[in-house]
Amino acid sequence: MDIKAVIGTNSWGGKAYGRILRGSYVEDSVIREAMQEADRQGLRVYDLARDYGLGKAQKMIGSFGTDDIILSAKYTPFSHYRKGCVRRSLEKDLSDFGRDCIDIYWLHLPTDIEQHLSEMAELYHEGKILNIGVSNFDLDECILAKRVLEGAGIPLYGVQNHYSIISREWEKNGLLGWCKDNGIAFWAWAVLEEGMLTDPRRKTKFSLMKLIYDRRKRKLKELYRVMIAVARRHDITVPQVAEAFCTAKGTIPICGCRRPGQVKELAQAADIRLSAEEIRRLEEAADSSQVKILGHDIFRPFALKSR
Ligand SMILES: NC(=O)c1ccc[n+]([C@@H]2O[C@H](COP(=O)([O-])OP(=O)(O)OC[C@H]3O[C@@H](n4cnc5c(N)ncnc54)[C@H](OP(=O)(O)O)[C@@H]3O)[C@@H](O)[C@H]2O)c1
Repeated sequence: MDIKAVIGTNSWGGKAYGRILRGSYVEDSVIREAMQEADRQGLRVYDLARDYGLGKAQKMIGSFGTDDIILSAKYTPFSHYRKGCVRRSLEKDLSDFGRDCIDIYWLHLPTDIEQHLSEMAELYHEGKILNIGVSNFDLDECILAKRVLEGAGIPLYGVQNHYSIISREWEKNGLLGWCKDNGIAFWAWAVLEEGMLTDPRRKTKFSLMKLIYDRRKRKLKELYRVMIAVARRHDITVPQVAEAFCTAKGTIPICGCRRPGQVKELAQAADIRLSAEEIRRLEEAADSSQVKILGHDIFRPFALKSR
């Protein structure tokens, strides 16, 4: 599968969720326009999970039509493995999507890895899952996942973890390199750090997310200065610098897009080539800020220890 970027759907959803948490509500008609723009730009992959948009995103995309798109969805093991749990969850997902198979299905957390992946392998062999990936896994867990799947005759398609200019732990600790060496895709989530790596000169409306990251933004002045300079040199926007950085590192950026302009920027960013010197300056400025909005392992505490 040749995927250059992925549209995240966590910010899709209802009025209250949009206004309070995300700072604005975007009408369904605008999201549909964004999907049409994505089609024109050759972006066809959408990343979903049952809880995205407070449970609305999957149903929305199902009602818009899923015939010509690639669907990425997840099984989230908030409790220990029970026989049939993945199958039941996948059936609900497929009903939301109006589909009889899913293109990429991820085990969202490293809980009871062998049991959950074995059930996913059964569903793969039945043709209900076309590719299997793992999300929020560390290197040892990825090695285990690869072994379990290969034992069932299935390649591990990909790893979906948090990665951005300011959150490069999975690169530093060798997971990204391992994925490259093994031909496994690495999908980077929150490449814009929930909007923190966008243009600081643009005023945004109040939101709960803004409350969380505004204080940290003050520490990112040097990174913004470098991002703005790089953006000027390539005649692109600040978020495109963050997206192009992830592409340059060999990751596939997943970006939360709700508007046609954001989709267009994401598609174009995949073709921007940053120089080694630009990447070095961005990394240096990011590291000197020591800012984190989401730790690289923010969801890992939800994973349950083996019984
Ligand atoms: N596997 C996992 O555990 C996991 C965890 C978290 C997220 N994810 C995936 O990653 C996706 C991305 O994460 P996210 O949506 O939370 O955060 P994100 O992509 O880092 O940031 C989204 C924010 O960036 C803004 N934005 C997007 N494109 C922009 C552009 N071109 N210019 C200016 N602002 C722009 C959006 O603005 P608006 O205000 O217009 O929306 C929104 O506020 C999720 O949707 C989900 O699919 C996966």
